[in-house]
Amino acid sequence: MRSHYCGEVSATDIDQTVEFCGWVNRRRDHGGVIFIDLRDRSGLVQVVYDPDLPEVFALAEQVRNEFVVRVKGRVRARPEGTVNSELATGEVEVLGLELEILNRAETPPFQLDDEDTSEELRLRYRYIDLRRPQMQQRIMLRALATQTLRRFLDAQGFLDIETPMLTKATPEGARDYLVPSRVHAGKFFALPQSPQLFKQLLMMSGMDRYYQIVRCFRDEDLRADRQPEFTQLDLEMSFMDEEQVMGLMEAMIRDLFAQVLDVRLPDPFPRMTYAEALRRFGSDRPDLRCSLELVDVADLMRDVDFKVFAGPAKDPGGRVAALRVPGGGALSRKEIDVYTEFVGIYGAKGLAYVKVNDLASGRDGLQSPILKFLPDGTVDGILQRTAAQDGDLIFFGADKAQVVNEALGALRVRLASDRGLMSDDWQPLWVVDFPMFEWDEGEGRWQALHHPFTAPKAEHLEMLNKTPGETLSRAYDMVINGTEVGGGSIRIHQQTIQEQVFHLLGISKQEAEEKFGFLLTALKFGCPPHGGLAFGLDRLLMLMSGAQSIRDVMAFPKTQSAACLLTQAPSEVTQGQLRELYLRLRKPQGGAPDGEAQGTG
Ligand code: AMO
Ligand code: AMP
Repeated sequence: MRSHYCGEVSATDIDQTVEFCGWVNRRRDHGGVIFIDLRDRSGLVQVVYDPDLPEVFALAEQVRNEFVVRVKGRVRARPEGTVNSELATGEVEVLGLELEILNRAETPPFQLDDEDTSEELRLRYRYIDLRRPQMQQRIMLRALATQTLRRFLDAQGFLDIETPMLTKATPEGARDYLVPSRVHAGKFFALPQSPQLFKQLLMMSGMDRYYQIVRCFRDEDLRADRQPEFTQLDLEMSFMDEEQVMGLMEAMIRDLFAQVLDVRLPDPFPRMTYAEALRRFGSDRPDLRCSLELVDVADLMRDVDFKVFAGPAKDPGGRVAALRVPGGGALSRKEIDVYTEFVGIYGAKGLAYVKVNDLASGRDGLQSPILKFLPDGTVDGILQRTAAQDGDLIFFGADKAQVVNEALGALRVRLASDRGLMSDDWQPLWVVDFPMFEWDEGEGRWQALHHPFTAPKAEHLEMLNKTPGETLSRAYDMVINGTEVGGGSIRIHQQTIQEQVFHLLGISKQEAEEKFGFLLTALKFGCPPHGGLAFGLDRLLMLMSGAQSIRDVMAFPKTQSAACLLTQAPSEVTQGQLRELYLRLRKPQGGAPDGEAQGTG
């Protein structure tokens, strides 16, 4: 039906007859002629209808925004002074010779170029929202990215293998989406939180290198970078150690950025231990575009006459850290209050500070509500360690280590972006040497920091039972600009060690058998050493496209409350369907079913 896409015509086509199909972006009537901006996914072109061709002109008069039309016309140069340098096709226009209205459209619920349209409206009419050039570019970027990744992986001998969607619970730590079985009364499938166990089984099957672009389902609290159903680029490799896995994976990401964005990422990516990341940046996914760093000062605070600092300084689980803000002396009382409120979100009970006005004047050159509590030695130590300069401000956090890390970790990024201290580049890194376990205060037991299939470092095997909290794992995370884009590990491939780890995690023999019996059995029949990782494809694309939310790189995302506004899913089902599935809904006080299902089989 067409000879060209709208965005393809240029000065080289002048005097050619062309045919386009697309949507009417805008119709303007100008001094007797009608201009139609025609749009398809490649861009816009201006078509001009002249009253000299009365029949076509009459049709052009009927056309409204979002009508679907077919246009035939002749390309010509735009008259002097009307060239539009902002439009790819802006040097030319098309004199409309024919016009066919393929379909009419009601007035759309929002203007495509209205930046303030609510996300609710955009999601309800997603097919219109997706017509916006910015959304089309993101979806096209996504297609180009997956194609580039597949090409790289195919060349590296990876096999694309599908794994089941109707499966057994997978342990990634979120709540499961369950699917009731009609055939097996009272039994449920779980949708996979990841293909973790299947990909390990594929290594045991001798597939050697596996990848899949795969949907994962996690019923968890949603944020800007989390969706209940999201896509992983999931990978697993046999007979490779962590250095080889990281080497190959960063080569893939370098190739992706080079092909899709024309950006050269560093070779190799820097590596940082988990301990160093927390110490310097308060986070295991540090944003290295921001150079502000946390500095430990607990040893200087142990004996100060200020309990807020001395307490955590003496507590082995506490932390007292300083954060120097270059030029921060200019911050007003009000701005400091805003930051104090901000760190409160992370549980910080306050945000002490020292303004460094004039180092040469000693204590008189400093300004701080806590100065009176700090002896000279402490003040000197702080100034030295933070390398403070005149005009700086130093913030302090004192609390449990986790609170200080989260509060000051978030504050450094917020400050840097507020004060233009963020570099405008790409900062990838690997975070390595994660602990195997972290202590869960609430449940009073160890939890796997990555997942229970992650191998401990060989030299830490001995420590596994004695000092689990100090055992380091063979896990690695790829972080880009403060976002964890992917993570994985070398896996346990010996059955005895897997059982030992289950035991440490408080998983009984019986529970291990019920949940992961098939894995434990498989480990006995010739399991190769293997490891892998998964990238959050949506997160990666969010970063690459500069989108603010992962919803903006998904064609049909769900809302923050895990609903689809377009189809109105989830929705109610008939009593008959429920009966077939051996389910009934328990009515809460008040009337409507609360959706809490009970198996009655
Ligand atoms: P993990 O749970 O770390 O590892 O997930 C891998 C990556 O997936 C992305 N991600 C998400 N993206 C959007 N919405 C979510 N709700 C969401 N949850 C996770 C993150 C994360 O880095 N099986 C292991 C991988 C392995 O060990 O090979 C796994 O799933 O970017
Ligand atoms: P107060 O004595 O409570 O008025 O606190 C004095 C200063 O210490 C104020 O600037 C508070 O914001 C700050 N502050 C209080 N608790 C903490 C904390 N846990 N960490 C850092 N600063 C704090």
